[in-house]
Amino acid sequence: MKFPQIRELLSGKRVDKTVSLRGWVARKRSSKKVAFLTIRDSTGRIQVSVNREANEEMYNIADSIGYEAALIITGKLVADTRAPGGYEIRAEKIVVVGKSENFPITKDQSQEFLLDVRHLALRSQRLTAMLKIRSSVFEAIHNYMRKEGYTEVQPPMFTTAGSEGGSTLFKVKYFDKEVFLSQSWQLYAENFIYAVEKAYTIAPSFRAEKSKTARHVTEYWHYEVEATWLEFEGLLKLMENVIAAICKNVAKKNDYELKVLGRDPQALLKITPPFPRITYDEAIDLLKQKDIEFQYGKDLGAHEERLIGTFFDKPVIVTRYPREIMAFYKKVDPKNPKVCLNANMLAPEVGEIIDGSERESDMDKILESLEQEGLDPKEYDFYLDTRRYGSVPHSGFGMGIARVVMWLCGFDTIKDAIAFPRTMARVKP
Ligand code: 4AD
Ligand code: MG
Repeated sequence: MKFPQIRELLSGKRVDKTVSLRGWVARKRSSKKVAFLTIRDSTGRIQVSVNREANEEMYNIADSIGYEAALIITGKLVADTRAPGGYEIRAEKIVVVGKSENFPITKDQSQEFLLDVRHLALRSQRLTAMLKIRSSVFEAIHNYMRKEGYTEVQPPMFTTAGSEGGSTLFKVKYFDKEVFLSQSWQLYAENFIYAVEKAYTIAPSFRAEKSKTARHVTEYWHYEVEATWLEFEGLLKLMENVIAAICKNVAKKNDYELKVLGRDPQALLKITPPFPRITYDEAIDLLKQKDIEFQYGKDLGAHEERLIGTFFDKPVIVTRYPREIMAFYKKVDPKNPKVCLNANMLAPEVGEIIDGSERESDMDKILESLEQEGLDPKEYDFYLDTRRYGSVPHSGFGMGIARVVMWLCGFDTIKDAIAFPRTMARVKP
């Protein structure tokens, strides 16, 4: 037997036919004469009515059924303007496939409780919509990268040196040694490209973030790109094009989910290149207009990034940060040695979603920067081989997928953009 999904039933194609539906009980209410169930599946929700006079036994099942019980319902699909979505199934038969008693999630529970039962909260409309949108983000990245001739590669997760600063490295016991969980594929990326030229990956990154912010987690999926012969201007275009491709795919595939979240699919179709571009210095000037005294040389924080975002209706690219706060591999601007050829893309409300740069090709400058960061060049010897043997201009970036999903979904915390978020305070469920 074929079981149509709810989205198909709500399209009305099968109106006045007998249908069988598989799903779970999301809501229920009964009067003396009729029991109403709202049944959900991964594609939506539909009302089912059970008439007591027609079948008392079935009415009793519906009246006493628990939230989240799994059912197969057979009945006639009818158009009814009173039903949400305009259609209702008049049940003729209900089979209980999996019973459910005392489902722990009821109305108005605290965020913390919902995180405690995250494995069950995933079934909510909000998180189901997020999961579908997130999947479309992955799809768009893979399609775009492959169309552009990039090779997908996989870096190791156990590493012996960091690239993004020691304070966020997770140490792990590795037999009798101590190693780190990968923060970024950076040191490997710059080696991969001497084989495949244009490389990308989507892999977990781990950060021992001690801060509890709305946009930091300790484990996230990191989409990273690196390419030979790619210079700064080309890098900025690549960032813009990937974001536009993601927005387009989500608008196309997730109309329903965006509406569940109160987001406008049409607005996403307007996120097309070129994006506004400003320098770090210009960003500071914008902050001054908002009466923020920002000290030159500091990194932009969440608050500052959000304020800068308010000047634009698309993501904005901020370039050329002070060299002192940039990681050792970022290229110094040949026109101004105080800054790097780097770029952060800031999304409205969320702030930094992408971090990228042209890479330093001068070995001496890298050694100097390693020293400034207090890093031991011996640990980076394999990485320095990229500059010893046939070094070429190259660039790359990293994008936190959950930050992009947070922005697309309009969430105020990154935790909602991840199925099972990990933070300093939470590693369960
Ligand atoms: O800015 P980050 O640290 O840059 C890098 O790791 C570079 N090696 C990337 C590259 O050039 N290949 O991290 C990149 C992105 C950030 O822009 C942000 O979107 C995300 O990763 N990110 C986090 N997302 C969630 N939780 C955290 N703790 C994150 N830290 C970074
Ligand atoms: Mg960054």
